[in-house]
Amino acid sequence: MKKSEFITIGLQYALQKKQIEDVICSVMDISSADFIRLEDIDADHLYEVQKAFYKLSNGEPEEYIYKKAEFWDNEFYVDERVLIPRNDTEVLVDETIKEISKNISTEATSYIDVGTGSGCIALSILRAIAPLKFAESYAVDSSADALKVAQKNTQKLELSGDIVLVEGDLLSEFSHSDKYPLSKNLCITANLPYIKDNDLENMAASVIEHEPDSALFGGKKTGFELYEEFIKQCFQLKNILKLENITVFIEIGFDQYEVSKKFLEELGLQFEYFPDSSNIQRVVKIYNF
Ligand SMILES: C[S@@+](CC[C@H](N)C(=O)[O-])C[C@H]1O[C@@H](n2cnc3c(N)ncnc32)[C@H](O)[C@@H]1O
Repeated sequence: MKKSEFITIGLQYALQKKQIEDVICSVMDISSADFIRLEDIDADHLYEVQKAFYKLSNGEPEEYIYKKAEFWDNEFYVDERVLIPRNDTEVLVDETIKEISKNISTEATSYIDVGTGSGCIALSILRAIAPLKFAESYAVDSSADALKVAQKNTQKLELSGDIVLVEGDLLSEFSHSDKYPLSKNLCITANLPYIKDNDLENMAASVIEHEPDSALFGGKKTGFELYEEFIKQCFQLKNILKLENITVFIEIGFDQYEVSKKFLEELGLQFEYFPDSSNIQRVVKIYNF
């Protein structure tokens, strides 16, 4: 079928020309330059392109349709089993890398990414600090499905041998030290679900309809409840394993500065906030457990 006829079909789906081009390039695995030269869409790709037109016009996120998302200069495989990595989460990666380069001796430190999803945080950090390596690196998720996606990404980014994927609830798997040994110093990143349960008002329809609930909702009252449990587990882990230092970086919701600050102060922790691109405090470094 002629490319021009196909563009007309795309327009009938109320798609923009750029979206139509992106669909065709992605399905046919060709560049924009190839697209300009392209005259016909071959029969093998007709169905796939039309299916993608339909999904896009239905509000399905492009990342799930194309099965890829850019994050921190890396391309990740993504599908409906994981949250699509967000640009704002790059602040968490930036601040963790700064901390590692200034204050953390990686070979004497273990690293855990909790709620890893696609693995975008952990794998971006490991790639950025290479050739440095942590003594041990782990990526935890309670969803076996999400871990399958993270596994794909460890292969895609050639980091399979550098990180152990762990299915479990927050830090619970690490209390039995034999299975997943930890060094005396620990660096943790976590982008856990933090939206208040059923707080659908502030959420885009495409997020509600397509992204996994298990990656979104963090508790009934504030949404910060899962983080509260996680931070309590950091204290427990420190006591059980007699760790020396734990430094944690978490991403919080746009409206969770007050609730998080109050909680951290009550526990006597030290902390520092970092803003996102809209100047909202979204990342917290927590230490002195
Ligand atoms: C907001 S998503 C973040 C995914 C990824 N880290 C990112 O930044 O794109 C939260 C992830 O935490 C996982 N999760 C939810 N509850 C958890 C729990 N109790 N223990 C471990 N992981 C959990 C979800 O399955 C999901 O993959």
